[in-house]
Amino acid sequence: MDKLAIQGGVRLSGEVRISGAKNAALPILCAGLLSADILRLENLPKLKDISTSLTLLGHIGMQVSLDDQGGVELQAAHLDRLEAPYELVKTMRASILVLGPILARYGEARVSLPGGCAIGSRPVDLHIKGLQAMGAEIHIEHGYIHAKASRLQGARIFMDTVTVTGTENLMMAATLADGMTVLENAAREPEVVDLANCLIAMGARIEGAGSDVIFIHGVDRLHGATHKIMPDRIETGTYLVAAAITQGQVRVLNTRADIIESVLDKLREAGAHIDVGNDWISLEMHARPKAVNLKTAPYPAFPTDMQAQFMALNCIAEGVGTVTETIFENRFMHVQEMQRLGADISVEGNTALVRGVDKLEGAVVMATDLRASASLVLAALVAEGETIIERIYHIDRGYECIEEKFAQLGARIRRVK
Ligand code: UD1
Repeated sequence: MDKLAIQGGVRLSGEVRISGAKNAALPILCAGLLSADILRLENLPKLKDISTSLTLLGHIGMQVSLDDQGGVELQAAHLDRLEAPYELVKTMRASILVLGPILARYGEARVSLPGGCAIGSRPVDLHIKGLQAMGAEIHIEHGYIHAKASRLQGARIFMDTVTVTGTENLMMAATLADGMTVLENAAREPEVVDLANCLIAMGARIEGAGSDVIFIHGVDRLHGATHKIMPDRIETGTYLVAAAITQGQVRVLNTRADIIESVLDKLREAGAHIDVGNDWISLEMHARPKAVNLKTAPYPAFPTDMQAQFMALNCIAEGVGTVTETIFENRFMHVQEMQRLGADISVEGNTALVRGVDKLEGAVVMATDLRASASLVLAALVAEGETIIERIYHIDRGYECIEEKFAQLGARIRRVK
């Protein structure tokens, strides 16, 4: 299994290009199942989760044709299997996103339940309840969700927890339903808006995406379209924290500032100087970061997917910062690994108290999930000596060419096969 070896202590400087957003691309690839015509996507990131998703869609019967410029053409003229098997779903929970589209277009779907996950229990009950409210008959048997509906019916659906993929699954299903669906307490994440924009380009009638009430007027069919995937806000935030933690000067390109306001606010609070342009953000840091307090919550509040990276920042900051996680119950797996690097963190319930230390020291650590892995890279960039990060396949799920991008900014980082 690959490892990353990082020699800390370099101030990062230079420019780095941000890839297309993984969490926008995953639902948008599944949207291709809603039409028999060609859906052309641009700015698709090269990631393990994307290839897993394409394998799943190919298994279902979608024709997939990738080019070498980040473009892909998808065509689901007809499907061979209305099924997502456990072997694929267990490696990537977002596979649940095929449920709504297959059911809406073919009246039947069989999708494995995702099962456990390193960061918490992550149920899919709201996806199921929403489809039931639209008239689907659903039963769970042998670990699979079996769903049937000759045609889904528009419905008013209130989700009592804000769920990103739940909102996306139901929005996709509703595009082909009979009548109007109203999704209340919907997720407002920019990736939901990107998916809605792609669906609208395919002929869907959607209003309100980006707010907590989304209206979808069902249509009889969707057609082909071309759509460019939005930039990855979590990758953007991760490189900005890397610049701040190393007291560097970095410009991230091909991105948007308006989708990570809460993250930029926290970086300013930590002492960073930030400039933004149309499609770039630059960050300069001239002193040791100041500790920040933060609490994760659904968009537009601070994203859970940036929590671990800010924990790394607090580890070497001046002062004491609290980090409170409200989305997932078990998302502090990185704490023990950071302690191996010399961090001073104590956890009580869903809050971590981080006392900044003068320096971290390199050690062997293990990546446990995608964002935890990214936070270990950040900590390693400032740790004295060498840090070895094991099990980095988690990083490859969500960060394109991470070692090349960091090396471009001057980091001493290499992949050990
Ligand atoms: C998505 C993102 C993930 C991010 C998360 C929260 C993708 C592919 N993944 O995950 O990177 O960390 O949003 O921003 O976009 N819940 C239920 N019942 C459900 C569904 C969710 O109780 O049916 C709960 C979850 O347990 C969790 C909360 O809702 O506590 C939010 O989860 P959700 O927004 O669904 O996360 P994902 O969409 O899986």
